[in-house]
Amino acid sequence: HWTAEEKAAITSVWQEVNQEQDGHDALTRLLVVYPWTQRYFSSFGNLGNATAIAGNVKVRAHGKKVLSAVGDAIAHLDNVKGTLHDLSVVHAFKLYVDPENFKRLGEVLVIVLASKLGSAFTPQVQGAWEKFVAVLVDALSQGYN
Ligand code: HEM
Repeated sequence: HWTAEEKAAITSVWQEVNQEQDGHDALTRLLVVYPWTQRYFSSFGNLGNATAIAGNVKVRAHGKKVLSAVGDAIAHLDNVKGTLHDLSVVHAFKLYVDPENFKRLGEVLVIVLASKLGSAFTPQVQGAWEKFVAVLVDALSQGYN
């Protein structure tokens, strides 16, 4: 269900991504913009304010893990659901993450990519990424049924 242009837009942006730095930026934004998401990360230590969050080494390590799973999905664009099945079940039945939060992470990820790429993040590229984020959110939400 992808056009060749969509696939190219998704994978070409992904080649520019630094999983550690951009994952950290996305997770930091999630925790600052939607502070109630901090409750899932009580084992991460000090998340007291935006500066503490931005400097938190556990947030950094975790951001990299999250983007590595996104990379896995991008490597399997024709089977995102299968690729993320087990991770979805973990979020549903072990971590009890409200799946609404997947959408929020998708939104902040698009913002991080847009601010990183500037004018290269064209409306056409954004369109492909919004579609990918919807597929990603859907795949991560499958285990909740
Ligand atoms: C753990 C990916 C969204 C909360 C993880 C892990 C991965 C991952 C790969 C490690 C699993 C393991 O070690 O077996 C993702 C992806 C997301 C996403 C790809 C969306 C694009 C979220 C959101 C939240 C969340 C939105 C909460 C607001 C957690 C928590 C852990 C976790 C609490 C365990 C952290 C720890 O104690 O080390 N996630 N995640 N995740 N995720 Fe997510």
